[in-house]
Amino acid sequence: MNILVLGSGGREHALAWKIAQSPLTDDLFIAPGNAGTAMVGTNVSLNAEDFPAIEKFILDRDIHMLVIGPEVPLVKGIYDYFRSQYRFSGLFIIGPSREGALLEGSKAFAKSFMEENDIPTARHRSFDKETLEQAKAFLKELEPPYVLKADGLAAGKGVLILEEYDQAVKALNDMFRGKFGEAGRTVVIEEYLDGIECSVFVLTDGTSYLLLPEAKDYKRVGEGDTGLNTGGMGAVSPVPFADGDFLKKVEERIIRPTIEGLHSRKIIYRGFIYFGLMNIKGDPYVIEYNVRLGDPEAEVVIPRIDQDIVPLFQALATGNLEAQEVRVTAGSVATVMLVSGGYPGSYEKGKEITFPAEIPEHSILFHAGTKEQDGKIVTAGGRVLAVSSYGKDMQEALARSYELAEKIDFEKKYYRKDIGFDLV
Ligand code: AMP
Ligand code: GLY
Repeated sequence: MNILVLGSGGREHALAWKIAQSPLTDDLFIAPGNAGTAMVGTNVSLNAEDFPAIEKFILDRDIHMLVIGPEVPLVKGIYDYFRSQYRFSGLFIIGPSREGALLEGSKAFAKSFMEENDIPTARHRSFDKETLEQAKAFLKELEPPYVLKADGLAAGKGVLILEEYDQAVKALNDMFRGKFGEAGRTVVIEEYLDGIECSVFVLTDGTSYLLLPEAKDYKRVGEGDTGLNTGGMGAVSPVPFADGDFLKKVEERIIRPTIEGLHSRKIIYRGFIYFGLMNIKGDPYVIEYNVRLGDPEAEVVIPRIDQDIVPLFQALATGNLEAQEVRVTAGSVATVMLVSGGYPGSYEKGKEITFPAEIPEHSILFHAGTKEQDGKIVTAGGRVLAVSSYGKDMQEALARSYELAEKIDFEKKYYRKDIGFDLV
């Protein structure tokens, strides 16, 4: 069958890399893709949010499966756009409905959903500029640090963690005045959770789910988890503390109630759910839901899936996930993100990337911000390449990624040298 993947990052390269290996795949397209996706399929210059253009392409190229990588088209309702048209009733769509995507698209929705379904999360309340006084009173009830979240999508920048009450009130005012645009007109204030983070992923058809490998990502730009937040500087899977006991609690207290909650609200959900969790002394709490795979988590999770992913997607899209199982590789996969110097602040693009003549079999280079220009591969974003490696354990996987990371060059290349530091 012909398959179209939407998106252009490392996550989409990992998805396309996996899909390309399936004997069920005929033509594979990635829109808009990057220099890496062009090595496993055909890039199409389509904007992932331009639904009419995507519709035309799907008809022209006889696409049977649409895999949506990033959250924005999902939150904008791409699932409903196609599902509402009879002629697309045979199209397999991997991603939730617009209502399901609210789990990521509205933090206030996600919070009330968790409350309704008794899912452990930080104590919270939502406010807008009319309820500023109540917001201040709620802050007074909490211990610092204070956690403020813009309700809507803010490209990973909508969460503020502040030490002082006065700073929190100032930030609230800034948000109500439009600091994060419409996304911040409603603000969720919540209790600070003190623990260690990890992410768990499932594929669900809205009734059954398959647990995928868990991962931990490293969001801060600086070593020792310091400096500004980024999209993610590296990731590892498995996560040593996410053992059988912990994952059992995650399934019982979080995953099952989430799927049941979607079901009882009659929300159509056929895609990935990403549970961003905090482990507090062995007990899991939800920090956030995402309605897609993580990036760079996908660059370690997907390589660990030890079977054809296309039949899983087919089963998912037809509501037949129950009969499926996921086989996972033993050992570990780690990824190290090579970024443009300056990221997540301003940085330059268009730097030529040079690669070693041979990439060892235990490593995979997933492209993120790259593109082909005059026969060369150049940087085209903040996060440039995810260097993923297999190993018998995390240390071996990381050592292999670091060895390869050193041999790849572009001007002002930067990467964190301590991925996994807190797990040893
Ligand atoms: P989010 O955009 O919801 O992923 O939040 C970004 C980051 O902020 C998370 O990965 C956590 O590190 C941190 N964070 C969010 N909410 C909390 C909380 N209630 N307590 C502690 N840290 C949090
Ligand atoms: N790496 C975090 C995310 O994808 O949201």
